[in-house]
Amino acid sequence: MGSGSGAAAERPLIEVDGAEKVFSVRRRTGRLRRTRQEVRAVDGITFRVPRGEMVGYIGPNGAGKSTTIKMLTGILTPSGGRLRVAGIDPARERTRLARRIGVVFGQRTTLWWDLPLRDSYELVRRMYRVPDAVYRANLDRCVELLDLAPLLAVPVRQLSLGQRMRGDIAAALLHDPEVLYLDEPTIGLDVISKAKVRGFLRELNAERGTTVLLTTHDLTDIEQLCRRVMVIDHGHLIYDGGLEGLRAAGDGERTLVVDLERELPPIEGIPGARTVKVDGPRQWLAFPAARSAAPLVTAVAERYPLVDLSVREPDIEEVIARLYAAGGRRPEPGRESGRQPG
Ligand SMILES: Nc1ncnc2c1ncn2[C@@H]1O[C@H](COP(=O)(O)OP(=O)(O)OP(=O)(O)O)[C@@H](O)[C@H]1O
Ligand SMILES: [Mg+2]
Repeated sequence: MGSGSGAAAERPLIEVDGAEKVFSVRRRTGRLRRTRQEVRAVDGITFRVPRGEMVGYIGPNGAGKSTTIKMLTGILTPSGGRLRVAGIDPARERTRLARRIGVVFGQRTTLWWDLPLRDSYELVRRMYRVPDAVYRANLDRCVELLDLAPLLAVPVRQLSLGQRMRGDIAAALLHDPEVLYLDEPTIGLDVISKAKVRGFLRELNAERGTTVLLTTHDLTDIEQLCRRVMVIDHGHLIYDGGLEGLRAAGDGERTLVVDLERELPPIEGIPGARTVKVDGPRQWLAFPAARSAAPLVTAVAERYPLVDLSVREPDIEEVIARLYAAGGRRPEPGRESGRQPG
């Protein structure tokens, strides 16, 4: 209603403004007593995803990732805020949206348990009325890139987890969706299957320009696939930006590793750095990730017999763990309990 058509081409494919989802749950609070409690699963998040981007969506268990994805597919109706995917309000026009999106929930299959993979795909084709040529092309491509040929005749329930996941990803793509939501697509997969799935997604994004929103607990997925990452915690978006910025946002520290001529007491008196480990002639000095290593190197070299050195980037796992911990302490405005610090 009233939206100018001229700007349609530039409009971000995914638009989320102040989205909220509140679940009302009944909790047992005594022997016979039950009380209603509100769970603010998603508590006012805003982001945009332009067409063609591949964005990582991470956060600890219960942060609100799956709830966000369910709102973006129309499975869940938001309690507040505004969501648009390809200009469509997901909750109001779920069926129309379904033709434009693909979804993979790693935790459960969308395939028919008793049917061979091929028959499941046939049902998907009919459900979405996929034109024959499109269906053929997409199926052939998925079969080739995801190694599905030997699995097509196998009933889904007989597939291993990794085989099933590849089968599910193909099913989500047969109707040529513009957006693919992946909720933990590599969960439980071995390293080879993970690599296969990642390679496939990279190619899908690069060659077809499919927009991908990817939820995962495996940070290697993010490092290998996404330039942009969003971090959600307790329903709040606590970070949205590049992986490099994430290292800084998590108060990441870099480490200067120095090899001295001989074993010496821990290095002292280097401004902005502290010695965190000593092993023979080798010592490790931690310093803020955002600072330059050059003055430290100079200071160490002036006072100590330096033989060799290297700088280590903060470990992304560590950075994220720190960010999650900080997010958990964050006050939550608008909540009764949020008024009191603690
Ligand atoms: N249908 C529901 N009814 C009540 N509470 C729910 C429902 N679905 C989710 N929640 C709650 O909402 C919060 C967010 O859940 P969500 O599944 O979105 O987390 P998540 O980030 O996907 O976590 P995980 O990494 O464990 O998959 C949790 O506290 C969860 O218990
Ligand atoms: Mg989840």
